[in-house]
Amino acid sequence: MRMPSPTTAPSFGEWARDRLARLQAKESFRRAAGAFPLTRPIARRRARSLFDLCAGFVYSQVLLATVRLRLPERLMAGPRSAAALALELDMTEASAERLLDAGASLDLLAPRGRDAGGRRLYGLGALGASLIDNPGVTAMIEHHGLLYDDLRDPVALLRGESGQTSLANYWPYAKGAGGAAASPDAYSALMAVSQRFVAAEVLSAYSLRRHRHLLDIGGGTGAFLIAAGAAAPGLRLTLFDLPAVAGLARRALAQSPVAERAEVVGGDFTADSLPTDADVVTLIRVLHDHDDDVANQLLRAIRRILPPEGRLIIAEPMAGTEGARPVGDAYFGFYFLAMGGGRARTPETIGSMLRAAGFRRTRLLRNPMPMVARVIVAR
Ligand SMILES: C[S@@+](CC[C@H](N)C(=O)[O-])C[C@H]1O[C@@H](n2cnc3c(N)ncnc32)[C@H](O)[C@@H]1O
Repeated sequence: MRMPSPTTAPSFGEWARDRLARLQAKESFRRAAGAFPLTRPIARRRARSLFDLCAGFVYSQVLLATVRLRLPERLMAGPRSAAALALELDMTEASAERLLDAGASLDLLAPRGRDAGGRRLYGLGALGASLIDNPGVTAMIEHHGLLYDDLRDPVALLRGESGQTSLANYWPYAKGAGGAAASPDAYSALMAVSQRFVAAEVLSAYSLRRHRHLLDIGGGTGAFLIAAGAAAPGLRLTLFDLPAVAGLARRALAQSPVAERAEVVGGDFTADSLPTDADVVTLIRVLHDHDDDVANQLLRAIRRILPPEGRLIIAEPMAGTEGARPVGDAYFGFYFLAMGGGRARTPETIGSMLRAAGFRRTRLLRNPMPMVARVIVAR
């Protein structure tokens, strides 16, 4: 897929949407649209979307309670009533019913008729079912407690008036990290559980079999390296990460099926040289963690160690992803703001950075779930 080049003039569609938005800003227009039978469904949908935007933080806390109380797992064996669950959940029947009704309204749970005593039964909903055996998502939901605290005053955060944030403390390499809560174990575990999905996206879009030696920079505890090794049996594997994380990676890789082919190098890419000899380098969810100065420096360093036919693969959630714009632009935009550095970039921005670093022929690959990560290969 060719990377689209940026344009500046608004398209006709954008111009028309702008005119319509200005009309919608008038209270009289909204009232008329709600009253007129043909526009009423649109007006209702819009009002509902606006309410969801207002109430999203409440929905997230219903989700957190559902995960913490392991409701989906409890309902796996079959539908239950609020009365039956209340004792296990250590709350009154009325509270259990409140939670179950909230979960059902959000598709986490679903109504399932009544028991012999006439009590309403609740079973797994479509979204609740997706939480089972999905440690990446449940770890992320728990992790969001920190982000939730940091976003309490978003304007202060945007103005840089929030002081030390919980997320900057959590990620040891974040700018201004205090290091107090910087447990590489905790954050590497969070990364590792979700890395399976990202690895699947990369490996379905690009075959590593044509390569000889892979260097995974910022490889965490090696989940991608293990998946890459399984997909390309002849590939030599090197992981480069900060020394504390490299220690964890060494342990994880030693017990993996790729132990014989894998090497781990501890170092800091802002200060140390990168290992040489690789003909393919991967940056999986690494570039977006860093501001432009560090990101550009890293790309130039990679360019220097790659042979002329070498490839760099960048995979991470990107801004401007069609069908998933809020993921890159709103969620990751504010996540990195709270972290104190980095940003989700569009494929076009990354393409320009790659060309400035000396890469030619950058290509955005097609992968099944662009919301999870988009994949760029550069030569
Ligand atoms: C968001 S994690 C991604 C880990 C892994 N690639 C994944 O997708 O699960 C970013 C990784 O980059 C590493 N990292 C950050 N700054 C680094 C630096 N200056 N030098 C080496 N590694 C660094 C972190 O330790 C961490 O493992």
